[in-house]
Parts: sequence; C-alpha cells; structure tokens
Amino acid sequence: MSEIKKALEKARKEGKIPLKEALVEDSPKDRAELPSPAYSQTRSVQVDLKKLIDRKVFSILKKDEVADQYKLLMTMVLNRTRPNGHNAIEITSFKEGEGKSLTCVNLAITLAKESRQTVLLVDMDLRRPNIHSILGFDLKPGLKDYFLNGTPIKEILIHPGIERLTVLPAGGRMDNSTEIMDSHRMEALILEIKTRYKDRYIIFDAPALNTCSDPLILASHVDTIALVARAGYTTTEDITSGIALLKDKNILGIILNDSGIRRGRTY
Ligand SMILES: Nc1ncnc2c1ncn2[C@@H]1O[C@H](COP(=O)(O)OP(=O)(O)O)[C@@H](O)[C@H]1O
Ligand SMILES: [Mg+2]
Repeated sequence: MSEIKKALEKARKEGKIPLKEALVEDSPKDRAELPSPAYSQTRSVQVDLKKLIDRKVFSILKKDEVADQYKLLMTMVLNRTRPNGHNAIEITSFKEGEGKSLTCVNLAITLAKESRQTVLLVDMDLRRPNIHSILGFDLKPGLKDYFLNGTPIKEILIHPGIERLTVLPAGGRMDNSTEIMDSHRMEALILEIKTRYKDRYIIFDAPALNTCSDPLILASHVDTIALVARAGYTTTEDITSGIALLKDKNILGIILNDSGIRRGRTY
C-alpha cells in the first residue's frame, strides 16, 4: 500500500474523511482489495429486449399495465423492507409453475429501474434453474462452478445491460443441491454477497417448498420471504401448507400472480 493510501486509510479510520473520498486510485493491487461498487469485474451481456417481452418480462416496458402492477409490487416490497433494513428476499411458492422465476426477474428489473436501489438477482433454484433462460444468457458459468470448482463469485456475475441490475446465474442443474445448500460454501456465498452488496436488494429465486428442503435452508439466510400464488392454479391448501412450513420465518407477503389483469398480476 502506498504512503498516500496509508495516510488516507489512517485519516478515514480516525473519522477525518468519509470512506468515499478515501477510495482514491492506487496500484491495481490496492484496488483489488476494495469492494468495487462498479461493474468493472462483471461480464456484460446485452439482453434482447424483444425476446424478454416474448418471455413475459413486461417490467422493461415504460408504459404498460403489467409493468404498473410490478411497480405496485415493488412499492409494497420497499415499504415492508426498508423500515427494517431488510434487503435479502427469497421468492418461493408451494409448488412448481406458480411463476416464481418470472416474478423474480420482473421484480428485480422494476427495483433496478424504478427505485434508486441496486439489485442482485440470484438463481438459487439449483434443481430447475431458469433465470438464465428468461434473460437469454448462456447456461454457464454460474453457481454450480462456484460450488464445484471454486470459481470466484466475481467471475460468475453478469450485468445484463439494465442499469443497477446484476445477476448471479445457477450455471446448471445440481441434483445434490440440498447437500450444497447446507454447506460451508453456501454460508460463505451468502456472507460474500451480503457484505459485498450491503446496500443492494438481493432477490433469491428459490425452488418450490414441496420439492426439497432448499427453500427452507435458504430461508434461514435471508431477511424475509415472499410466497407466489398463481390464480386458478394455487389452492388454499397450498398456501396454508406453505405458510405452515415457514411458520417461524419472516413472511413478507403473498404475491398473486396471473390474476387476470390483461397479461398480468397483482399483489
Ligand atoms: N402471469 C403469467 N402470465 C402468463 N404466463 C405466466 C405467468 N406467470 C408465469 N407464467 C409462465 O408459467 C411458466 C412457469 O413460470 P415460472 O416463473 O417458471 O414458474 P416457477 O418458477 O414458479 O416454476 C413459465 O412458462 C412462465 O412464462
Ligand atoms: Mg422457477
């Protein structure tokens, strides 16, 4: 560390200058020691906006009835999380096909576009990952590489060309996901993304509650959990069973998907 950097560090520690001003340019080695708020190390892929609309990612549209519903959802999420300083949200549901992944993508985009928050979207459905296919990314690399080969997280992150949004894809199916979710590497991952992205909203796309214990394990690592229910598909019993499984957890609310507003949904 250079003398200037040392002096700045000392002054910052003594409270003489704010952290932001202490982060001056120095040697590449010194820069690497600091958590970067920029996308300098992140791969960039420009998502195909037309294909996103084909895949029902209507949150990218400026004027749209469904996009408005996501804005309403975002406001409710912000109102229920900001006062508690909560920013790590798991999205799950009782069974598959209720719209968890689609809701995650649309909520993450809406938060990134409409609020001043930066957002990290994590595909934590390691058995049926599909955030990459909704956004049109290659399957690899992803969390699978982090878990199996120790690939650093910074090499897996993707910036999809939507300002303030970063994605951590799954990188392939992992049939032994529960074992992995319960591992030290998982704890290290959560710690890394929570500390590296302290001021970011982190949206975790989780598997369904009736498929495996992964969403319950993940529930212990997040601040709050939102359940997705799909109109005409999710039953009252599904909702009751889901809430019962999460009984000691902080439930943010139930997101009603596909409620019949043109293409849309409501909260
Ligand atoms: N509100 C909706 N309107 C139309 N299609 C939807 C809606 N929500 C989900 N889908 C479609 O249903 C399928 C399952 O959604 P997905 O988000 O993958 O569910 P999950 O992650 O809960 O298994 C996808 O093909 C998705 O495009
Ligand atoms: Mg899914």
